Amino acid sequence: MTGTAARRATKSEFDKMAPQIAGPRASTWITRGGNFAVVVSAVEPGAVLERAHDPEEHMVIVPQNGPTLSISAGGKTIEAKADSLTIVPPGASTITATSKGLFAQIYSKASTDLMALASNAQTYADGAPELAPPDLWPAPRDGYKLRHYPLAQYVKADGDRIQPRVFRSTNMLVNLFVPFRTRRETVGLSPHWHDDFEQASLTLSGRWVHHMRYNWGPDLDSWIPDDHGEMTTPSVIIIPATVVHTSRDVGEEESSLCDIFCPPRLDFARKKGFVINEDEYPLPDLPAEDLGKTGGSLLAWQKPG
Ligand SMILES: [Fe+2]
Repeated sequence: MTGTAARRATKSEFDKMAPQIAGPRASTWITRGGNFAVVVSAVEPGAVLERAHDPEEHMVIVPQNGPTLSISAGGKTIEAKADSLTIVPPGASTITATSKGLFAQIYSKASTDLMALASNAQTYADGAPELAPPDLWPAPRDGYKLRHYPLAQYVKADGDRIQPRVFRSTNMLVNLFVPFRTRRETVGLSPHWHDDFEQASLTLSGRWVHHMRYNWGPDLDSWIPDDHGEMTTPSVIIIPATVVHTSRDVGEEESSLCDIFCPPRLDFARKKGFVINEDEYPLPDLPAEDLGKTGGSLLAWQKPG
């Protein structure tokens, strides 16, 4: 690992913040990273969220207790129920809520209006030059369209406590872990870092500690203390490149975690069989040296395949 963090982590706890977009039936909080925006909306029945034109795909994550949404794009409409992921094609799209609840959307940097509205837009005023440039991967084999994935089918009832569920599009990759019903053991943590990309960790239930350690540089006055602060949910943290991190759920109830990477992580994408929808999207033709941007105490599923 080289270098020091270019910025501090952004920690957004939505219950403690005013929404960036306030409508009669929807409140929306926007937090950005260098290459993406995490958009969380609390909706009432009848709420309509319209997008005139997004240049790239975006994702819609409806958690287990989330609302039912009608999502229209590319001339098609699908019903997205609780516990689902939907990939929305570029262009115009409309989401209409038919029940109450909270859900999340992930947009790329190409949706410049959302990036500008983010609560932490000032944090990224320098354009985040420490990150590898965003890279649009090849178009899906059967063309751009709505892609819908109910998530319950990817749960192994007798499986490990940590069950990654990874999906990708042309411009991002998400890991929607099976929600945790037991707490992470303190002897099995996985502190690690990413050299040149950020990680967003979106948590919609439970209570979380995202342990973080920032590298030291030559200037003592710029050193940042370790962060072991607890976060309420719903919340998102944007973990900068080079910051050592590991997350631990500390609440009493079920807890949810979704990790977000934009552009997609090549090390995950190249693990055959690891990305659930890998057959829908061709891999880019990138050199092998583009691997190995992550280091630290990795668990088996985090290691390059
Ligand atoms: Fe990470």
